[in-house]
Amino acid sequence: MELFKALNMNSLELNNRVVLAPMTRSRTQQPGDVPTELNATYYAQRATAGLQITEATQISEQGKGYALTPGIHSADQIKGWQKVTKAVHQHEGKIFLQLWHVGRVSHPSLQQDNQQPVAPSAIKPSGTQVYIIDQFGKPEFIDCETPRALETDEIDGVIQDFVRAAENAISAGFDGVEIHGANGYLIDQFLRTNSNIRTDQYGGSIENRVRFLTEVSTAVANKIGPHRVGVRLSPYVTFKDMACPEIIPTILLAAKQLNALDIAYLHLSEADWDDAPTIPDSFRKQFREAFSGAIIVAGRYDRERAENILKQGYADLVAFGRPFVANPDLPNRLKHQLPLADFNPETLFGGGKEGYTDYLPMNHE
Ligand SMILES: Cc1cc2nc3c(=O)[nH]c(=O)nc-3n(C[C@H](O)[C@H](O)[C@H](O)COP(=O)(O)O)c2cc1C
Repeated sequence: MELFKALNMNSLELNNRVVLAPMTRSRTQQPGDVPTELNATYYAQRATAGLQITEATQISEQGKGYALTPGIHSADQIKGWQKVTKAVHQHEGKIFLQLWHVGRVSHPSLQQDNQQPVAPSAIKPSGTQVYIIDQFGKPEFIDCETPRALETDEIDGVIQDFVRAAENAISAGFDGVEIHGANGYLIDQFLRTNSNIRTDQYGGSIENRVRFLTEVSTAVANKIGPHRVGVRLSPYVTFKDMACPEIIPTILLAAKQLNALDIAYLHLSEADWDDAPTIPDSFRKQFREAFSGAIIVAGRYDRERAENILKQGYADLVAFGRPFVANPDLPNRLKHQLPLADFNPETLFGGGKEGYTDYLPMNHE
């Protein structure tokens, strides 16, 4: 099977092509958004994936948009992540940290001193909510508010936050980082005409809207090495008020510019939950032509679809999200066509080990 062939991804040796997709699970130690031994157990259980990508991890206080998600900007968070990388490496896994700035998908109650969240432009994402813990300690979903547009001279500071976070990830023992350019968060907000109406060099033309992504990726690659950098993009996902008529040429230009940096991979996020439009082959061909590194695809794949896309040559690796929740040994189950367990949707976010580390592998052989 194609899924079980090893891959040398820009000098990183991967045992197979099954990737753990990044999944927020909201189980950090509070206060401080610090990863714990419980998180280490969760990732160690999934270390038979050829590559794991962690849950989205905020690069700064400003980059936070949901309660209980981890950060990578404090000394305690770095120490917490060291437990995770150590456990994964003991099981011979490979793991990248997903670097996240949410931009406008946040709320003042999650920001330092109740400040407004920042974004390319002061446009509120309609119909978009974030998860907070209210003053009585109860979890609650709450509408995003209108963000503040970043001043041009603030943008380099945000890029430097990405660079510091990437350096922190390497000190925490990660094999690399994935820059989250997908699913309606800050970088994606810069890419799209409906969330970016700037009139400076970061808005207007396609070239200008790609600039923030390329500058972040260049600065991170220069600091930690391009072979340790991947980028996630979601051209067909419109969830979080992200429908942009120019997104396809914008993403193709981004892929060309990222190709010039020689980064390890591009990761196509094809579905945010059930927002999963069919991706035309014409786009897949153009994307492949634009980028010569590895391509990861994610979004409602099963064994058969995964094999097909690898055989067609449109992808080198396939990431699985929801199937990994209740099947920590997913590669083995796919390989031997074992039945897949269903997850409990009530325990996806928040809580302890229940619905997190208590899904067990299936005995086989
Ligand atoms: C519980 C959950 C949390 C998620 N969190 C993230 C995240 O932190 N970062 C990200 O890029 N995508 C996130 N996603 C999207 C997944 O990475 C993936 O693209 C999506 O689940 C589709 O793949 P699947 O059909 O195999 O689940 C999340 C999905 C789920 C189900």
